[in-house]
Amino acid sequence: MAALVQDLSRIDLEGTKRSKDDAPLCRTPVIKRNEVAWRWYESIGAPKLFVAPLVGYSEPAFRLLCRSYGADIASTPMIDAAGYVASERYRNEFAFTGGSEDRPLTTQLGGSEPESLAAAAALVAPFCDAVELNMGCPQRCAKKNGSGAFLMEDLARATRCIAAMRSAVDAHNASAQTRVATVVKIRCFDDVPRTVALAQALEAAGAEMITVHGRTRHAGGGRRTAAQLANWAWIRAVKESVGIPCISNGNIRHSEDVRDCFAATGCDGIMSGVGALRRPRLVFAGARGGRNQVAARYCTHALATRAAPRQAHSHLCGKLALTAPAAVRDLRDLIDSLDVSGPETDRSRATLSTIRDALLARPDDDDADDDLDGETPIAADGWTKVWRDKRL
Ligand SMILES: Cc1cc2nc3c(=O)[nH]c(=O)nc-3n(C[C@H](O)[C@H](O)[C@H](O)COP(=O)(O)O)c2cc1C
Repeated sequence: MAALVQDLSRIDLEGTKRSKDDAPLCRTPVIKRNEVAWRWYESIGAPKLFVAPLVGYSEPAFRLLCRSYGADIASTPMIDAAGYVASERYRNEFAFTGGSEDRPLTTQLGGSEPESLAAAAALVAPFCDAVELNMGCPQRCAKKNGSGAFLMEDLARATRCIAAMRSAVDAHNASAQTRVATVVKIRCFDDVPRTVALAQALEAAGAEMITVHGRTRHAGGGRRTAAQLANWAWIRAVKESVGIPCISNGNIRHSEDVRDCFAATGCDGIMSGVGALRRPRLVFAGARGGRNQVAARYCTHALATRAAPRQAHSHLCGKLALTAPAAVRDLRDLIDSLDVSGPETDRSRATLSTIRDALLARPDDDDADDDLDGETPIAADGWTKVWRDKRL
């Protein structure tokens, strides 16, 4: 392990290429296929279409919604490992209320202390198929404790975190009927060999699948501008350098992107975040329109899984809402009558049922809303066109 945790600048990158043409961005070493990792991946059905971890959004109801349109696997939002270990109240916020239909499932943990990550991994392992270390969060809260994308800067600590999680998960596996994997989600450096070295070190430390968000920590994500496109060539370089399943994340807004991303990256799966949030049916089933029906279906899952009213409110009329804009306008008062500060109650259930009925009664929304390559611009510069023109 110590050899792995070397100064990245000293890693032998002789032969590395960095060109804009089709040549590989990195010399491809001989990669040993990690059979244990691949057996696990196949045991959960070799998933291709992944729902991203989304703080505030990827609760059980949303995960079930995406699965109903064809997503193969979903993830919890990032859960703070230390908080999860310390607080029952916090644990309850992430209750696994989706049951057996909400599998396969990844539980994502955030943190930078191997001990708390291991303890949290042991607690969640019985309820999921993979426990993931978040190495992608670029926000200030992550900077404070060196977690998320800031952990990418401290390879020694990152590998210790993965190794500790792997030990805890393997201890669970020793007496479990189905194997749980230890996996990781990273961003990229703008220096491809450095990203590749990071991915290889994480694999050697015990990671059994890697998801690569093709943006740097500085490029933001989610609501992107032209400068913040995910770079599929960077992702391909990682895929070609590891012996574990590799998942591509970034720039997936509809089914055409799914096809193009597989071709461009050679990855084993693709993951969608914002696209899935706004149009899960388009991303996972390739079908346009029908957003009122999609939002109504979300309400059904929210009722069945006892989603908190604040979650339902976000999905129905937040910045990244499922609901078509016209329906949000018409139903705004009703949606706003959900008490977002409290838990689910008889009253919130009744309101959600009324919203669902109102959505179902609306005519299927116009396809115009789904025009423009299946997306409405969400950035002032009309990102869809820019994205299509500049896709890497
Ligand atoms: C609202 C929101 C919440 C997010 N929460 C998480 C999270 O909990 N864990 C994580 O690894 N990434 C998180 N992300 C990043 C996404 O998982 C994904 O990497 C990013 O949106 C890029 O994918 P996309 O281009 O398909 O949106 C979040 C993004 C958004 C927009």
